[in-house]
Amino acid sequence: MSLLEVRDVTMRFGGLTALKQVSLVADQGILGLIGPNGAGKTTLFNCISGFLRPTEGEVLFQGQAIHRRRPHQIVALGIARTFQIVKPFSDLTVEENVLSGLGKPIYPRLHAFWQRTDGPEARARVQGLLERVGLLPWAKVKASSLPIGLQRRLEIARALATEPRLLLLDEPAAGLTSGEAESLAALVRQLAEEGMAIILIEHNMRFAMNLCHRLVVLNRGQILAEGRPEEIQRNEAVIDAYLGRVRTEGEGR
Ligand SMILES: Nc1ncnc2c1ncn2[C@@H]1O[C@H](COP(=O)(O)OP(=O)(O)O)[C@@H](O)[C@H]1O
Ligand SMILES: [Mg+2]
Repeated sequence: MSLLEVRDVTMRFGGLTALKQVSLVADQGILGLIGPNGAGKTTLFNCISGFLRPTEGEVLFQGQAIHRRRPHQIVALGIARTFQIVKPFSDLTVEENVLSGLGKPIYPRLHAFWQRTDGPEARARVQGLLERVGLLPWAKVKASSLPIGLQRRLEIARALATEPRLLLLDEPAAGLTSGEAESLAALVRQLAEEGMAIILIEHNMRFAMNLCHRLVVLNRGQILAEGRPEEIQRNEAVIDAYLGRVRTEGEGR
């Protein structure tokens, strides 16, 4: 049994089919989900994390159907995600943001929740998570005042606070400098080595190729190819649909 199984998932928005019979499995390691803008990558994350109910098909986590569950129930089962457009609680400090993710339920009434979690143990866990993602020096800073690179790390810390078995990262390197992307890659690699399963949506091909053990290529809502990075790199259909175009765009910049 695989940790995550997506079976024939179709997602329609009115007349638009964003995903068409998508099937994939994910286990330990880093699975890259790549493909052009609008391919359906984020929609697939939404279907896995309970933000959308697939029109057809099912999603199984540890053998259990989860595609009709709510986001917080899915978090409780062990799947956490980050968002392509970061969503910190802007008025809270970095530390408070991570604290809000501690434990399983993710939409508590914040005040009551803090009374429960604001002990020395919770503080220590938050410190540990901040240290891990390199945000300790910013613990007391308002989340909204962080630069984008650090907000992305904050998203990851918040997701880790829920103690996931499977972590879904939606373009975590977007907007980062190459140095920041490198150190983010090191963090993701480390998490995978510790046994976490990770699915990573990535636009930057080099970043995905270096980091991921396996790649799934989505194109217009369908899986175009799947395999090891070096197989994907020489797959003709992928080169036509995606790699070739990215290269041309890059040259034009
Ligand atoms: N909630 C929604 N309502 C309507 N259309 C949507 C919604 N979410 C995504 N789409 C459409 O589905 C397609 C896939 O989007 P998305 O999954 O965000 O692509 P990607 O993440 O690969 O860039 C796009 O055409 C997008 O406009
Ligand atoms: Mg997206």
